[in-house]
Amino acid sequence: MSADRKVILSGMRPTGRLHLGHLEGALKNYLKMQESGALCFFMVADIHALSTEYKAPSAIAENTRELLLDWLSVGLDPEKSTLFVQSEVAEHSELYVILGMLTPLAWAERCPTYKEQQQELADRDLSTYGFLGYPILQAADILLYRATHVPVGQDQLPHLEITREIARRFNFLYGETLPEPQAMLTMSPKVPGLDGRKMSKSYGNAIELSDTAADVERKIKRMFTDPQKTHANTPGKPEQCVVLALFKMYAPAEAPDVERECRAGQRGCVVCKRSLTPILDQVLAPIRERREQFARDPDRLHLILDKGARRARARAGETLARARAAMGWTRGNRERTA
Ligand code: TRP
Ligand code: SF4
Repeated sequence: MSADRKVILSGMRPTGRLHLGHLEGALKNYLKMQESGALCFFMVADIHALSTEYKAPSAIAENTRELLLDWLSVGLDPEKSTLFVQSEVAEHSELYVILGMLTPLAWAERCPTYKEQQQELADRDLSTYGFLGYPILQAADILLYRATHVPVGQDQLPHLEITREIARRFNFLYGETLPEPQAMLTMSPKVPGLDGRKMSKSYGNAIELSDTAADVERKIKRMFTDPQKTHANTPGKPEQCVVLALFKMYAPAEAPDVERECRAGQRGCVVCKRSLTPILDQVLAPIRERREQFARDPDRLHLILDKGARRARARAGETLARARAAMGWTRGNRERTA
């Protein structure tokens, strides 16, 4: 492996089916990395899911399968990338414990996502030790693979910053061992949900990658348009319309006509929406097809995750051995160091 080969690690929590927002915001970036020849690790962060779902953890297994299917359906390729489940690689838990020893409590407490998430998920008791440790576990995820780049959304930047601080602290205490990763932000525009807010599962406004053609058609019908445009020949303000935003993303050549006709009162919303339907279906049909193929073959899914876990363990185990050697912490001196 050449010294300047990028190493990518990213993860998602298995908390439900992925939607167009994930496709544009994260998955296209994953695919680009995969095709660039970088060494790619994509992780189902099921231990992270446990930090908020600990009262009903049995749903995590089904969501793990769904997430894997979503990934495979958009073209993540287990021959090119390592797809694995966090909890199947015990090294995550071990490095997490070690990093917890040297991470000042204040770093975890001041992480903005900590209080935000607690407020957002106010129905759950998240004043737990594990939830506070969320960013330290994420640091372990990233540092274990000696990732150089981490494709994440804006919301994850504080976690990346803590990861870098923890790496620096480790290296300061024990010598240069864990490389500092860089965040890799996607530049793609935000996908609006059906109601015009950001597309999000929690808003119930998402077009999911696994939606059927009929689901998509039904969802487009309730899409937010210009509320003042009451008739086909009323001039509209398409800049606040979700339909136009999606034309711009998925049929950029047609968007200027849509916009002009809307403004001129030459286009009605019903027809406009009807013409968006096949465009979105063109995006989703191949994804849906691939998903069905993989879903039919549970043995293959197991093999993919078995292989992924093996590859992940090999890399993670090597890092952990280096980390322990740097610390001079050889598990009661019974471990031979390299
Ligand atoms: N916290 C991330 C999220 O909620 C998921 C995650 C866990 C992750 N471990 C990671 C992302 C490591 C990037 C790298 O989206
Ligand atoms: Fe939106 Fe099309 Fe209706 Fe204009 S005509 S408001 S772009 S759906």
